[in-house]
Amino acid sequence: MEQFRIRPAIGEDARVLADMLVEAANWNPVRSRSRMTVLDDHAVARYVVGWRRPGDFGCVAEDARGVPVGACWARLFPANAPGRGFVAAGVPELTLGVYPQWRARGAGRALLREIGGVAAARGHARLSLSVQRGNFAHGLYVSEGFVTVTSRDDADTMVRTVR
Ligand SMILES: CC(C)(COP(=O)(O)OP(=O)(O)OC[C@H]1O[C@@H](n2cnc3c(N)ncnc32)[C@H](O)[C@@H]1OP(=O)(O)O)[C@@H](O)C(=O)NCCC(=O)NCCS
Repeated sequence: MEQFRIRPAIGEDARVLADMLVEAANWNPVRSRSRMTVLDDHAVARYVVGWRRPGDFGCVAEDARGVPVGACWARLFPANAPGRGFVAAGVPELTLGVYPQWRARGAGRALLREIGGVAAARGHARLSLSVQRGNFAHGLYVSEGFVTVTSRDDADTMVRTVR
């Protein structure tokens, strides 16, 4: 039985999103960096700095007591300062993370499905992301309809149509 529920992410969730950003940056334990190092890295921190600014949207999964389990959120980047998973101006880029103790219980997939619906309701046609091919999350994204549009080094940029 599902032991979490999903709600919209609000401005006060910035800390949870930062936690999940650190988890996403540190998906490979061999190349793990401290929280401070990750969040001092502008290329990474730009996914949460200033949350929740116009155009941002997201979902937080939380347990029965309201304690966050994980989050998935989307942010728009301009063509002259693209994110890693940039495909076009106006296509929001996703970040996804689940706290380690909650993994492999369906929260990641549930968050991905939920944000697809939120994106469509906000008038978006596509969502994009960047994922390293060694991360099992790559297979999760494929199974949720994401398709690789460009590849570089060890990472793919993937896109999913949401309506
Ligand atoms: C990726 C992540 C968000 C997935 O969340 P999750 O709640 O653990 O995922 P789910 O329980 O919904 O499982 C999704 C699928 O991945 C599979 N999976 C889960 N953990 C796995 C693991 N350690 N290795 C391989 N596959 C795994 C599940 O079996 C499931 O597939 P299934 O439905 O066919 O069984 C989570 O592991 C995480 O936070 N990782 C670190 C951050 C990260 O890498 N983010 C993505 C950056 S692009």
